[in-house]
Amino acid sequence: MKNIAVFASGSGSNFQALVNAVETNELQASIKLLVCDKPKAYVVERAANHSMDVFAFSAKDYPSKAAYEMEILQKLKDYEIDLIILAGYMRLIGDTLLQAFPGRIVNIHPSLLPNFPGKDAVGQALSAGAKETGVTVHYVDEGMDTGPIIAQESVGIAAGETNESLQAKIQRIEHGLYPKVVQTLVLTKI
Ligand code: GAR
Repeated sequence: MKNIAVFASGSGSNFQALVNAVETNELQASIKLLVCDKPKAYVVERAANHSMDVFAFSAKDYPSKAAYEMEILQKLKDYEIDLIILAGYMRLIGDTLLQAFPGRIVNIHPSLLPNFPGKDAVGQALSAGAKETGVTVHYVDEGMDTGPIIAQESVGIAAGETNESLQAKIQRIEHGLYPKVVQTLVLTKI
């Protein structure tokens, strides 16, 4: 059984979808640790509800990205983590973690990459007047949402679509897609 660490910064609905998938055995892996850079984020509460271990930190307490990533790396070693799953973790991964986990860090992004990388991908798609957008799961490299694509699913943007309605459609796709893709990865690649 592979050991997973989920990294998140916010509400953690994708974290929850992964935890649920483990509990129903759709995802045959063990989520050992949540890493969170926002100690007050709701995702920390979700982890506590499932008695899951959390490493919460504030980047401002460290002199550099390398310094906090060294501490994260030690935790990942302690928990014998095989795979890092980013689920709304709003920081670029640095060399320390990229070199320690080559090809073993995965991200989900709410657009059809390479369109609309970075923050507020849903708002970007609406402002651009796009007719469709979607969800991408990809390997993480040193860029912002740039690594090799593993899976994509598209969704139409209706006339009169709001940020909230589109966000809801996209999150529904994410919660179905991410556990499935991670399951494929733990069975085959990692
Ligand atoms: C998700 O929609 C995820 O795709 C996005 O953050 C949201 C987190 O939601 N990630 C990015 O934009 C990464 N560039 P959640 O906290 O409810 O899982």
